[in-house]
Amino acid sequence: MIKTYKEIMCSYPTGVSIVTTMDQDKPVGLTVNSFASVSLEPLLVSWCIDKKSSSLQAFHKSDTFAVNILSEHQKAECFIFADSKESDRFSKTSWERSANQLPILKDVFAVLECKKVQEIEAGDHIVLIGKVIDLHKTDHKPMLYYQRNVSVVPE
Ligand SMILES: Cc1cc2nc3c(=O)[nH]c(=O)nc-3n(C[C@H](O)[C@H](O)[C@H](O)COP(=O)(O)O)c2cc1C
Repeated sequence: MIKTYKEIMCSYPTGVSIVTTMDQDKPVGLTVNSFASVSLEPLLVSWCIDKKSSSLQAFHKSDTFAVNILSEHQKAECFIFADSKESDRFSKTSWERSANQLPILKDVFAVLECKKVQEIEAGDHIVLIGKVIDLHKTDHKPMLYYQRNVSVVPE
């Protein structure tokens, strides 16, 4: 069953985001494709983090996170922020602190800054739900993730 489940899920096209937060003065972030819209009133989003993730404690401690939705130009960032051996991910990309003090990547498709409202244990992952407190969109096109590869959205 797990083999077919993985085949189905890796053929389900998604976007790719890097979710970020601050751990005291240190920016923390990882690549995710579990990001989803949850509610319009209020504006709520969700994403899931593996309980084994080295970033888990930082997201657990922080009241806020930013969902940086990658643009089609950001293949390098997608894989750098998914590399568990890469200890200095933020030195390999351009970023800045937002007015809400969250790490925001440059050249993304869009950013949603969120206040964390709920953490739900779900199997080997934790679901984080956030209320959108700030957002912006650029003219870049979003990245598409399909069958473990990134590509561009069709015209
Ligand atoms: C396209 C893609 C999507 C991913 N989605 C998730 C996800 O939704 N949740 C998660 O915990 N890890 C996800 N990962 C794996 C993490 O990015 C990877 O395990 C990373 O090393 C975690 O870093 P950390 O242990 O420093 O937190 C994804 C990786 C890729 C390449």
